[in-house]
Amino acid sequence: MPWITTDAHAESRLSGDTIRVLSESLSTTAYTNSAGGTHSFYSYPARFHPEVARDVISAFSRRGSWVLDPFMGGGTSIVEGLTLGRRMVGIDINSLAHFVSDVRTQPLSPADEDSVRRWADRAAVRLVDPDLSWVELAGIRNLPRATELFMAGALQLAADMLPRRRAFARAALLRLGQWALDCRDFSAPRRSRLAERLPAYVDDMILGLREFVASCRESGISKNAITGHRMLLHRSAAGIDRDSRIRSLRSKPRLVFTSPPYPGVHVLYHRWQYRGRRETPAPYWIANRTDGAGLSYYCGGSRTPTGIRNYFEMIVSAFSSVARVLHRDGTVVQIVGFSRVAEQLPLYLTAMEQAGFYEVRSSDLHDDRIERRVANRKWYAKLQGDVDAATEYLLIHRLR
Ligand SMILES: C[S@@+](CC[C@H](N)C(=O)[O-])C[C@H]1O[C@@H](n2cnc3c(N)ncnc32)[C@H](O)[C@@H]1O
Repeated sequence: MPWITTDAHAESRLSGDTIRVLSESLSTTAYTNSAGGTHSFYSYPARFHPEVARDVISAFSRRGSWVLDPFMGGGTSIVEGLTLGRRMVGIDINSLAHFVSDVRTQPLSPADEDSVRRWADRAAVRLVDPDLSWVELAGIRNLPRATELFMAGALQLAADMLPRRRAFARAALLRLGQWALDCRDFSAPRRSRLAERLPAYVDDMILGLREFVASCRESGISKNAITGHRMLLHRSAAGIDRDSRIRSLRSKPRLVFTSPPYPGVHVLYHRWQYRGRRETPAPYWIANRTDGAGLSYYCGGSRTPTGIRNYFEMIVSAFSSVARVLHRDGTVVQIVGFSRVAEQLPLYLTAMEQAGFYEVRSSDLHDDRIERRVANRKWYAKLQGDVDAATEYLLIHRLR
């Protein structure tokens, strides 16, 4: 039996095959948007590779059972879980994460598709007009003028659409905005280029959503049943055991699969950057969601010693709540990285213990844990100062 635990009385039901699959899957290098389905909708920072999510969810849960991601981000696990026939609960304090996960798992009817296509075509024609005096600018910080004008006009043109269609239109604008600000050009694209791209993105996203619906159907979830198979909550993971919506679940989740913020690693979950440094709150404006919290809020604490202490308190409190909603035989699988691994990994494991878990480890692996080098990931490259070479760990825990 290759798996050992730090707790002598616990039985292990994990096989050597599982270790091999997870190690291989975690060593997948590229984090791209080419995964198909609705993964191209939004580049949420620090997102899972869809394949890793698939492998973990397949290995540790069954069709029809509930899987919880208490730090869901852009909803990779939610999308993959649904396409595998699971019921998914996703939680995040970021309203943008909630918005993106919602649109990515909300099927459209043929009439919805027609409507958003017509909107995109109309926007593409109207917004290249030299006279845009009808467009009301919102004065969004650090958004190039042509991009803001285009977005503001397109949002105005979407004003009368049904809510589901308008949400999809907003998601298409988010994708367009990410592309516009990420452009390798020295300047942001002109309106004509935005106008060219919007209908193409809408088409591509409609196809992605259809692909997602088809995969769900193959796994036994019909189009009409998809939204009933997922619960997305905009709130903190801490205290979820007292949330009546979670308490209303018919059965307890047997798998928690997640990736919390990493201690001391600051990622811009809530801002886009223009020219690689100027931050804009544009995504909240486009998605029409609440903004207002600072960077440390989404990262679990600042990088000061007090901030790192707050981070670990957040982990204890979030996972204590998770422990109370998890099935007695359930498993927590998470991917975590550290800015200073030697110091922080033990603190992290202690926090999990305080929350009521023991770690499951493998004697097949040379240092007992599945890990992955992530030297090329963008946010590590941007970090300043004293940061360990980036390694992410796949940690597996069970209830004590
Ligand atoms: C590493 S990201 C998750 C990315 C996700 N796995 C994906 O594939 O997109 C961590 C997320 O945790 C969220 N977060 C931070 N503190 C939280 C808390 N106390 N409760 C719930 N979510 C929190 C952040 O907003 C962020 O979206």
